[in-house]
Amino acid sequence: MSWEFTTTTAAQTQTIAERLGRLLQAGDLLVLSGELGAGKTTFTQGLGVGLGVRAGIISPTFVLVRIHPNLPDGPNPGGPDLVHVDAYRLGSAAEIDDIDLENTMDSAVTVVEWGTDRVEHLAASRLEVDLLRATGDAGTTPGHDEFDYTSEDDDESRLIQLRAIGPRWAGVDFAALAVE
Ligand SMILES: Nc1ncnc2c1ncn2[C@@H]1O[C@H](COP(=O)(O)OP(=O)(O)O)[C@@H](O)[C@H]1O
Ligand SMILES: [Mg+2]
Repeated sequence: MSWEFTTTTAAQTQTIAERLGRLLQAGDLLVLSGELGAGKTTFTQGLGVGLGVRAGIISPTFVLVRIHPNLPDGPNPGGPDLVHVDAYRLGSAAEIDDIDLENTMDSAVTVVEWGTDRVEHLAASRLEVDLLRATGDAGTTPGHDEFDYTSEDDDESRLIQLRAIGPRWAGVDFAALAVE
């Protein structure tokens, strides 16, 4: 099953992710894709709020993996930790295995930026989230997407595609994540 959401601000993207974060449990795997600056880390920050984990989620690019512990005095005490991975520099599934995500998977929600074709073997089920910064301008270029190169701090529209794969997500409807 798949769902699509459109946001016009980074805050809206975080709101969708926060709502999703409240549905997640230990063992869940999320695979995020989208070009640099598309909003993968921004989305993960929202997940962290919904999960009730320690704040301060930043791009893990130079660290590869960061663990954000669940906050005992947060909104979701006893809930899972957040393991935030950037797989951009990890070439293969074998290199992923070297960082031992299996160890933390059972007690955490594992979110992998650039994880496509690298981490699917870690779990029987997963959510795939694609963030697209294309702003369709059907008026002038029918059938084509126009890309927006304004400053990265400016709010822009994003298309968020969510695909739910595997038995964990059977029958789960994500339509209620949408923002107005
Ligand atoms: N609708 C939107 N959703 C997400 N991010 C947005 C949006 N509009 C603008 N942005 C900005 O785009 C940038 C996304 O950066 P980041 O989340 O680090 O991307 P990535 O991790 O995919 O490289 C941020 O500066 C964010 O404020
Ligand atoms: Mg990032």
